[in-house]
Amino acid sequence: MDSKIKTADGTETFINQEYNEAYHSTKAGAYTESLLKFVLPCRIDRLSKEKKQLDILDIGFGLGYNVAVCIKVATENNPDVFLNIVSVEKDISVFEKIKQLSIPDSLREIYRDILKGEFKNGKYIVRSYSFKIEIIFEEARKALKKINRKFDAVFYDAFSPKVNTEMWTVEIFKTVKSLMREEAVLSTYSASLAVRKGLLEAGFKIGLVEPVGRKSYSTVATVNGNIPPLTEKEKERLERSPYAVPYRDNEQLNLPREIILQNWKSIVDQKLKKA
Ligand SMILES: C[S@@+](CC[C@H](N)C(=O)[O-])C[C@H]1O[C@@H](n2cnc3c(N)ncnc32)[C@H](O)[C@@H]1O
Repeated sequence: MDSKIKTADGTETFINQEYNEAYHSTKAGAYTESLLKFVLPCRIDRLSKEKKQLDILDIGFGLGYNVAVCIKVATENNPDVFLNIVSVEKDISVFEKIKQLSIPDSLREIYRDILKGEFKNGKYIVRSYSFKIEIIFEEARKALKKINRKFDAVFYDAFSPKVNTEMWTVEIFKTVKSLMREEAVLSTYSASLAVRKGLLEAGFKIGLVEPVGRKSYSTVATVNGNIPPLTEKEKERLERSPYAVPYRDNEQLNLPREIILQNWKSIVDQKLKKA
């Protein structure tokens, strides 16, 4: 059974038993992580003032914090904005967990609206005055290939690369990139060199976001949007470190996780031997 825990900012999250990881950084706080590593790095505050409708791709719906905080920030900045959100999530039991959370006051109404939706043909759909959310309950590698529209922002929030490797490959990043408008920004909590290298190989430019609850910077990626630059130190690490090797799937996006990890390890081991 997954267990509920309190995070540094007082908001709650769960530990997922299958991956043996928390849904959120306990040191940053669930709410704070959503705000500072996902929503603001994607410039949802600014975009909601500039556009009447925002198209958001949310990868790993989980407990719904990224989506809920996004709705809060967007509607505070522009009460008339409309958010068209597509989420991808493989685990239908997340709703049982959400119902057990003590939702912070500032998100309570938003969650109440989120929970008013209906399940239909493997999807959960909910509409309100300010948003439509469609959660596709399917393995992301399959679901993403079927999406046929473009987004203004992407929240990329799978479990960590070591346990959820198939979600961090060059090939899945290329698929996500094909769904993004040129100016769109993808935000992720990950600071992994393999992830950063994978985003670069997929054709993104990448940038760093100030650390929250730890020393490492998190990552943003875009095709042609405005993002903070990489530091010279990080550029050098990405060029020289033996760990700066991207994870690779096959073209069909169906290699088993263990194989992706094994292939990555054998390339890193070769590099370490040469170093
Ligand atoms: C770190 S949690 C997401 C937290 C969430 N964004 C939030 O704000 O509450 C990662 C989520 O990704 C989902 N996930 C992991 N691998 C997946 C896959 N291959 N396809 C779809 N969803 C996946 C997990 O079930 C989990 O809910």
